[in-house]
Amino acid sequence: MKVLVVGGGGREHAVIRKLKESRPDLEILCAPGNGGIAADAECVPVKATDLEGMVKLAKERGVDYVCVTPDDPLALGMVDALKEAGIPAFGPTKAAARIEASKVFSKNLMKKYRIPTAAYEVFDDPEAARDYIRKENRYPAVIKADGLALGKGVIIAQNEAEAMAAVDHLMVDKAFGESGSRVVVEEFLTGVEVSVLAFADGTTVVPMVSSMDHKRANDNDEGLNTGGMGTIAPSPFYTAEQAERCRKEIFLPTMDAMRKEGCPFSGCLYFGLILTEDGPKVIEYNSRFGDPETQSVLPLLDSDLFEIMTACTDGTLTESMVRWKDGAAACVIEASGGYPGSYEKGKEIHGLDADGQCEGVTVYHAGTTRDGGTYYTNGGRVLGITAVAPTLKEALEKAYEGVGKVTFEAMHVRRDIGAKALKGTK
Ligand code: AMP
Ligand code: GLY
Repeated sequence: MKVLVVGGGGREHAVIRKLKESRPDLEILCAPGNGGIAADAECVPVKATDLEGMVKLAKERGVDYVCVTPDDPLALGMVDALKEAGIPAFGPTKAAARIEASKVFSKNLMKKYRIPTAAYEVFDDPEAARDYIRKENRYPAVIKADGLALGKGVIIAQNEAEAMAAVDHLMVDKAFGESGSRVVVEEFLTGVEVSVLAFADGTTVVPMVSSMDHKRANDNDEGLNTGGMGTIAPSPFYTAEQAERCRKEIFLPTMDAMRKEGCPFSGCLYFGLILTEDGPKVIEYNSRFGDPETQSVLPLLDSDLFEIMTACTDGTLTESMVRWKDGAAACVIEASGGYPGSYEKGKEIHGLDADGQCEGVTVYHAGTTRDGGTYYTNGGRVLGITAVAPTLKEALEKAYEGVGKVTFEAMHVRRDIGAKALKGTK
């Protein structure tokens, strides 16, 4: 069997390593991949957003199954294009991927099907948005671009001046192009954030172990928002009670809603939740595996990822297919100094063996190149150093031990990944 994984970050590396572990017989291609992924799969330089190029590659190479992991190709309809060409793929159709690609779609879906989420209004006129915000006069106010915006389309305004600037930034200056033609203005929710990824086959939904991201660049949740600086799994804040409530009030109703809207969701459905005093509420859906959540969730999977993925595509997913190891996982991101702003590339990475790994941990490569047996930095987020252990404390210790061994010039790492979870504080 030949499998093609679309993308080239740490999340794709984690998917590929779990596929290899599940099925050593699989031949795995990755497009475009990266230096570290090249140690585990054949990397082919086709851009993740190149629909035609990807279909051509899959046909030429006789690929049996494609795993479409990043948001952009899903929103563009890569799964539909592959299916039209007769190639089965993991991931939602273009219509189902709207659950992430359009905040207006997902908010309206939640309202229509009474799925708990922050109260909101939608605007396509900047003046109307400004009037509403001034009238509400409640801060922080949350202002979200409708479309995909590289994870930067959500602005939490602390006062009226910031809120007016956010409306201008998104709607008038069009910082993210047409993504900002419409905005959602919503209520600010307080509580612990938890990410729950779930396998879905259109009808059945099977949640994975929960996880917790650390989005800000610096310790104590300070600094700019990033793609994620580290994760732990499972989240100790997500109790069995919470999980049951989420299943009944959020996971199953979302699957039903998508079916009723004529776009059943198949693939990985990511629930971004806030555990508020009034119960769990959805702050966002993603139509794909999270990055870097995947780097701490998949290492805990104790069953065959390939079997699960193909079952999602075939509509034959069952609960019993998805089993988890006891224990905990932690992933600490090593980023280039300056990230998420500008940073330098091309720094030699020390402490990796020829396969890009380091003893005691698993190293997921997010932005690296390889020259012979040497690896170099090639992105903002460079590596995800992951460890699995019987307890979260030990997993964190092991991961940070790995961080001490794998280094490069101007490396930036948060030193407090998992610290709040360990203390049990909010
Ligand atoms: P999103 O891109 O929708 O995940 O939003 C990015 C981040 O903004 C989330 O991870 C939350 O920390 C925060 N956020 C989004 N919506 C809300 C909300 N309604 N209340 C509080 N925080 C929010
Ligand atoms: N780590 C958050 C995301 O993948 O969107």
